[in-house]
Amino acid sequence: MVDEPQTATARAHSNIAFVKYWGNRDHRLRLPANSSISMNLADLHTTTTVAWDDDLKHDTLTINGAIAADSALERVRNHLDMLRARFKTSRYARVRSTNNFPMGTGIASSASAFAALTAAACAALGLELPERELSTLARRGSGSAARSIPSGYVEWHAGDSHETSFAESFAPPEHWDLIDIIAIVSRAHKRTSSSAGHETADSSVLQPARISSAAERLRVVKSAIMSRDFEQFASVVEEDSNLMHAVMMTSDPPLFYWAPLSFAIMKAVRYWRTIEKLQVCYTLDAGPNVHCICAASDANEVSARLRSLSGELDILRSSAGGGACVLSLRD
Ligand code: PMV
Repeated sequence: MVDEPQTATARAHSNIAFVKYWGNRDHRLRLPANSSISMNLADLHTTTTVAWDDDLKHDTLTINGAIAADSALERVRNHLDMLRARFKTSRYARVRSTNNFPMGTGIASSASAFAALTAAACAALGLELPERELSTLARRGSGSAARSIPSGYVEWHAGDSHETSFAESFAPPEHWDLIDIIAIVSRAHKRTSSSAGHETADSSVLQPARISSAAERLRVVKSAIMSRDFEQFASVVEEDSNLMHAVMMTSDPPLFYWAPLSFAIMKAVRYWRTIEKLQVCYTLDAGPNVHCICAASDANEVSARLRSLSGELDILRSSAGGGACVLSLRD
């Protein structure tokens, strides 16, 4: 290890998957059942400072200024334990993390959180790791965090070992001006975390069908992104989201993430695209909020239509964003 600074601050963006990750072939290593594709979200990010400190007796964590305990702290400690074991340090860390998007909006922050934590923790140890290795390490905290390390449009190769399961960029953010308009249907914290959901995915009889057809969807979505073919992109993105939710709904216990308003928005989005020719499609993660992915030229119209569907919707908006980066280093 080189002579190291002790404190580093890093930033990473959240991402939205177009071909989803759901289910693991190895839960401990978070090796996913299938490869996935996503876009980083420029306007939703986590900034994390890690200070390794000889005087600390245990790790500490604050999120948006509040001291974190329980499961959030435990997950961060487990991740730091993994990094300590790998890089042979016994020091504990003070971790300060802030999200620029409103907390409690039901927007998964684990991808940006574990990508920023990994980047800051490694930089503060004086390590300058290749992007690929950072991605594998971020994956251990939250699978989708692997995709928040590289920039723009990203593919996570499922791989079959810790070293071969990593994400890499296949197009920069400016390649295609897609906008994610997120309809916040519920601010409630999800009752079943995605980590727990991954463990039940194999109990659905539909999961083998979803997994065996995922490579073809990935091929089509990637080629649609490369050629900026919205029609081809939209139909497979919606199909992939529906397939993941079909697996969730048929798992034991079943997971029902859609709310009535989510479903109303999904149907409206399809109508706007197929009948009214707006370039927009939907995708949902492990929650009821609907990500409406649209061409930049239709973004204002889509926002206005979402607002007219329900006056109670909060709406977030983001364009494609860059990868994780270190903002500062200090001794
Ligand atoms: O990274 P996790 O364990 O939070 O899993 C993410 C799962 C989904 O958001 C539902 C899909 C995805 O590929 O991001």
